Amino acid sequence: MLDFIGEKKRTHYTENLNKTNIGEKVILMGWVHRRRDLGGLIFIDLRDVSGLIQIVFKPENREIHLKASKLRHEYVIAVKGQVVARAEENINKSMITGKIEIEAEELLLLNDSEPLPVQINENILAEETLRLKYRYLDLRREKLKKIILLRHHVIFAMREFLTNKGFFEIETPILMKSTPEGARDYLVPSRVHKGKFFALPQSPQIYKQLLMISGFDKYFQIARCFRDEDLRADRQPEFTQLDLEMSFVTQNQIFLIIEEMFKYVFQKTIDLEIDIPFPRLKYKEAMERFGIDKPDMRFGMELVDVSDVVKKSDFTLFSSVLEKGGSIRCLVAEGCAAYSRKQVDNLSDIAKHLGGKGLLFCKVEGKSLNSGISKFLKENEQKEILKKTGAENGDLILFAADSNKMVFKILAEIRNFFGRELQLYDQNEFNFVWITDFPLFEYNDNEQRWETAHHMFTLPKAEHIKYFENEKDYGKIEGELYDLVCNGVELSSGSIRCHRLDIQKKIFDVLNFSEEEVELKFGFFMKALKYGAPPHGGIAPGIDRIIMLMSKADSIRDVIAFPKTLQAVDMMSESPSEVAQEQLNELGINIIRNSVEKIEN
Ligand code: AMO
Repeated sequence: MLDFIGEKKRTHYTENLNKTNIGEKVILMGWVHRRRDLGGLIFIDLRDVSGLIQIVFKPENREIHLKASKLRHEYVIAVKGQVVARAEENINKSMITGKIEIEAEELLLLNDSEPLPVQINENILAEETLRLKYRYLDLRREKLKKIILLRHHVIFAMREFLTNKGFFEIETPILMKSTPEGARDYLVPSRVHKGKFFALPQSPQIYKQLLMISGFDKYFQIARCFRDEDLRADRQPEFTQLDLEMSFVTQNQIFLIIEEMFKYVFQKTIDLEIDIPFPRLKYKEAMERFGIDKPDMRFGMELVDVSDVVKKSDFTLFSSVLEKGGSIRCLVAEGCAAYSRKQVDNLSDIAKHLGGKGLLFCKVEGKSLNSGISKFLKENEQKEILKKTGAENGDLILFAADSNKMVFKILAEIRNFFGRELQLYDQNEFNFVWITDFPLFEYNDNEQRWETAHHMFTLPKAEHIKYFENEKDYGKIEGELYDLVCNGVELSSGSIRCHRLDIQKKIFDVLNFSEEEVELKFGFFMKALKYGAPPHGGIAPGIDRIIMLMSKADSIRDVIAFPKTLQAVDMMSESPSEVAQEQLNELGINIIRNSVEKIEN
């Protein structure tokens, strides 16, 4: 028989109780986390949102002792009792409330529970798919609960900080026009206008710019974004940004606001002082030194360009790569000369997996190079390589020879591999860096066309406007673009926007958008730029990634209450799912069954 809670009111949360409460009568409510029946005494660890406390049921109180003997894991109970001190020998140091316990006087059984399909125990983790199916149970785990609560505190601190700085939080539509923004849109069919679709926002980019044109001056929003793209450990189809925008602003002012905000949030939520201002690195330098625009700067191991040294070598691979405009660069893995053939082959496989031809290597023995490609290198070349790289006896040198793009891709991945493998960094460090001066356009070799490196509403640097005249110069145009990176993770992206219609049109020309196409896709926005658009700029830190870093979570799924799998599926509700034929009829949508079967097979 279940009891009713009636007028009973909870007096405390478990972990708010301590030795100062000894002697008080309290009413606690929560779940049976653990139970031990010692024949005479019954001990229950009661769990609520704040934590755990031990409840003791003594045999003297026969009625509730009998009731307590029937409790099972995850039953929901209310207990009235007295806070008492535990005897010295019974103090539990691993429990925050381990110095006290509650001597139960009344017990209400508020609900029972079937045996759980997943254990609420950090040490016995079921497979992730099963945990995602029963996410509401997995969220009872201390670790996940803490992360979700941290997320709340971080978002609250952001809101507080920005409001105090004069920002206004303004919501923007979730149903909007489909506009090309990089990823594929999630589409929503319209019932009223059959055959027409809304799109879910990939970000509120256009709306925040329109709010600047409306004169709101400083905007922010905790914005949900939706992108139908390939998922990874730090990517979800549905994620959250702290989206912000400011008018009459410089890049430096945006950096300052963000640096101060991160300092405030880290200090307030995890009591950690971070140093500001964050260092800055130009995109080109980041690529040359680390091979990537989101370098993990907690460790060195920088790339070294040895193209000059080996340009006259007898090794035909080197000369052919250099002739095609590529480069030969290397990394030194300290103390790794003892790596076996298999270990080196595994590294080479990483390169092949990325689309490269593999990795070349040699080992440093004394003052010369040995094994691998050393036989192709003349004595003076070997000496020069040792000098340029600073490699020493016992080190392993790894070379990539390919197009610059591929060399950077491979060595950046290999560098990150060694960072983890050789534990080259302090796990507790937060190393922030601004990456600036990105190119505005990148050439897409596969599709043979120019595309924007970030997004198409970015202001080019004033001194680079002249490069719009000639296609061969497009690659030289840098934008007022910046990313905030921490420990090798891109946390935020932003830019100063193009508030002038004439320059925005030049950008569309490079992207090869016809006038009709621009009118169709962005007509409303182009029109807005005609009515006194102020200079403006902004940024959008990804909240999920910030929480991942702060909580040291390995997967983005751990920082979202109800996440999707890598296949973009919600395991719990089993969505996406089919809908009733009447719903499709109302929308005027016909499913082409063949195509669904083909895809599913
Ligand atoms: P961008 O597309 O670079 O910029 O996104 C900004 C930040 O959002 C986070 N992020 C993601 N997090 C989880 N899952 C994803 N699929 C995902 N995609 C992006 C990252 C990233 O740095 N409108 C511009 C911002 C601006 O210019 O103001 C934008 O959305 O942390």
